[in-house]
Amino acid sequence: MRFLLVAGARPNFMKIAPLMKAFRRRDHRDLILVHTGQHYDRGMSDTFFSDLDIPEPDINFGVGSGTHAQQTARIMVDFENVCIQRRPDWVVVVGDVNSTIACALTAKKLGIRVAHVEAGLRSRDMSMPEEINRICTDAISDLLFTTDRLADENLRREGVPESKIRFVGNTMIDTLFAQLDRAIALPLPADLSEGQYAVLTLHRPSNVDSPEMLSGLLGAISSVCSRIPVIFPVHPRTRSHLNGFAHPNLTIAEPFSYLSFLGLVARSRFVLTDSGGIQEETTVLGIPCLTMRLNTERPITCELGTNMLVGTDPKRIREMAFAVLDHGRPRHCIPDKWDGHAAERIVETLLDEDPLPC
Ligand code: UD1
Repeated sequence: MRFLLVAGARPNFMKIAPLMKAFRRRDHRDLILVHTGQHYDRGMSDTFFSDLDIPEPDINFGVGSGTHAQQTARIMVDFENVCIQRRPDWVVVVGDVNSTIACALTAKKLGIRVAHVEAGLRSRDMSMPEEINRICTDAISDLLFTTDRLADENLRREGVPESKIRFVGNTMIDTLFAQLDRAIALPLPADLSEGQYAVLTLHRPSNVDSPEMLSGLLGAISSVCSRIPVIFPVHPRTRSHLNGFAHPNLTIAEPFSYLSFLGLVARSRFVLTDSGGIQEETTVLGIPCLTMRLNTERPITCELGTNMLVGTDPKRIREMAFAVLDHGRPRHCIPDKWDGHAAERIVETLLDEDPLPC
């Protein structure tokens, strides 16, 4: 059987790396890696391939930035050509970015089976482009690989038949376990010492595209900086909105490579973020995570892990950050099957599927 694996944006690369390895371990060679080029900078894409030992993509569309419709449409046109030429038996998509829905939709309309890795996550916030991508991708996928039992329940509630749902665990955590030793062997940036700094990431359009919202969040960050140094690797979307924001205790940096970022988070006191994946990584690392959003598609990280949904009110963010500084790490446990073997389970399932009749 021929598999076509899709990656497009930064949060996809750590999810496909263990899948590529698991296919190789099973000696399955009929695998094509497509990079849509949704993310294209060295810092947002290339360093992830080298850090995670992902082979050069077989095909790179280089679609780049644009409106959602432009980006999604360009990927669909290019991906349709690839599917017609290469005739895969399965298209495997991961996560919830525009590349995910674009390739799932294209494949499905050509009658190619689609597997979605990280299915069933729901924020119930339809103003998030990712929520639309998740719901649409799940609705048309043939196999839905989930990271936790709450995701299974979401899918069942939407009428997805049991036979399509496979609870396998979390491929992003496979990568974390595989790389953690290398990551913490790297030196920390100058002036930072273990347990004595916080990490900040901020890129969600709802937080950074509105000047009022962003200035409130940055006000809260300034207060946090008065008590602990903060390091802020800045996403390109956010950089253009910062307008010279500075604080003597804040280090503004370029995006970090996968290994440097993991090493940074693993040795931090706590993390302030609006990312999705970081909520999961901190849960496994036992690092407190303050998520500056009103909802999360990953509630298991609040239930079992170290994640706290603190919203976007500056006063509350400040209070919660100070509480973490004063009271230390919350108790946590690691969700079921986040054990470093999710990709093996996925590949085993896929290779056991019947080839389609000619
Ligand atoms: C995308 C994903 C989001 C994910 C995030 C992680 C969608 C809908 N959103 O959001 O789920 O959490 O990636 O990074 O797919 N840019 C660069 N260099 C790059 C990539 C982007 O400069 O390599 C700039 C673009 O020009 C654009 C901005 O960053 O101005 C946003 O990029 P885009 O891919 O549209 O969305 P993200 O906000 O990164």
